[in-house]
Amino acid sequence: MRGKHVILGVTGGIAAYKSAELVRRLTERGAEVQVVMTAAAREFITATTFQALSGRTVRESLWDPAAEGAMGHIELARWADLVLVAPASADFLARLTHGRADDLLATLCLATAAPIVLAPAMNQQMWQNAATQANVAMLKSRGVRLLGPASGDQACGEVGPGRMLEAVEIADLVEPMLAVPGPLTGKRVLITAGPTRECIDPVRFISNRSSGKMGYAVAQAMRAAGAEVVLVSGPVSLCAPTGVQRISVESAAQMFEVVQQQLPGTDVFVATAAVADYRPLEIAPVKIKKRNEQLTVEMTRTTDILASVAARTDRPFVVGFAAETNNVEQHALEKLLRKNLDMIAANEVSTCKAFDCEDNALLVLSRGGARVELPQAPKRELATALVALIADRLKSKV
Ligand code: CTP
Repeated sequence: MRGKHVILGVTGGIAAYKSAELVRRLTERGAEVQVVMTAAAREFITATTFQALSGRTVRESLWDPAAEGAMGHIELARWADLVLVAPASADFLARLTHGRADDLLATLCLATAAPIVLAPAMNQQMWQNAATQANVAMLKSRGVRLLGPASGDQACGEVGPGRMLEAVEIADLVEPMLAVPGPLTGKRVLITAGPTRECIDPVRFISNRSSGKMGYAVAQAMRAAGAEVVLVSGPVSLCAPTGVQRISVESAAQMFEVVQQQLPGTDVFVATAAVADYRPLEIAPVKIKKRNEQLTVEMTRTTDILASVAARTDRPFVVGFAAETNNVEQHALEKLLRKNLDMIAANEVSTCKAFDCEDNALLVLSRGGARVELPQAPKRELATALVALIADRLKSKV
């Protein structure tokens, strides 16, 4: 959203407290945010809060002599790449439906050529009222987009539809609306992520420390680059990135199965999962009792999902990950060749730099000899850089 101009309209509703966070979520993604408040919004939150968060003076009045040529609404209407009203009250929906021009926000909505997006927030009865629903239908027919509302507990104590979406959900939904076509638009990307769990008996399993954060960051970056993304994920405590199809699995065998099913039509396969290399040969049908001093669990190799994809004749562009404790480059290069990969992203895990933490550093090696070091950075940034490298390689293949 870098450099994109978003007008954030705030109308009168208790959900206006979430709008403050929304300013942060939009600005951290690069958008310039101009807040426009209605008179009713001022009953719930102050302009000072928005001013501090957006770095811009909040606009409130249609009659602001300081605005350019005293035509603030026209100037703002032209400046906007997107007008987002969150929260959008029942009254605002009604005013917009009727094309009222009785305050700055309603007027600039009439005057703008930019897309208008609303995140409604109101009491569930007000939302379900026939008048509101008729207004919503009319607005949709004119191309206005609505985000939510969500259902659940309301500030008024009632339960039902009418809650404003969370700030991060709104930012996730708005981001692609402002995005220019990305380098991977039209490409399908399949990603494995997280750990696997290999059962020993009905209550025990063998797993590893992978949090899935790197894989989820890659999925998000691929989506941001315009790709259609399918994420095959082991058990993690992360939410699926918006716009990404997640398929949850537990064991290496299940992950292998799902990857095989999802592979047709895939342009890029990225294996970030920390797949168990071995699984118990047999899963005890009942809980193993502690009878002996020692217990031996016999293990057998799992199928290497990455190598199996790379071995196909109709293979996509294949990217592997390597977690190494020593001789990172040497081991990664050996893996790149042995598994017949197009690219490998290696990281050192000896100092626990990569597993279950926010930052990472990667050494990216490609078939043909290219070598790129991506220094220590948040996983989200690294993922974006890695996706850019993948997109470059794909382009040069075409
Ligand atoms: N991988 C996979 N299926 C497996 C094991 C690994 O798809 N059954 C993938 C991982 O997702 C990763 C890459 O293979 O992209 C490297 O995994 P790693 O465990 O580091 O390497 P191995 O080839 O298993 O070698 P070793 O454990 O001996 O280092």
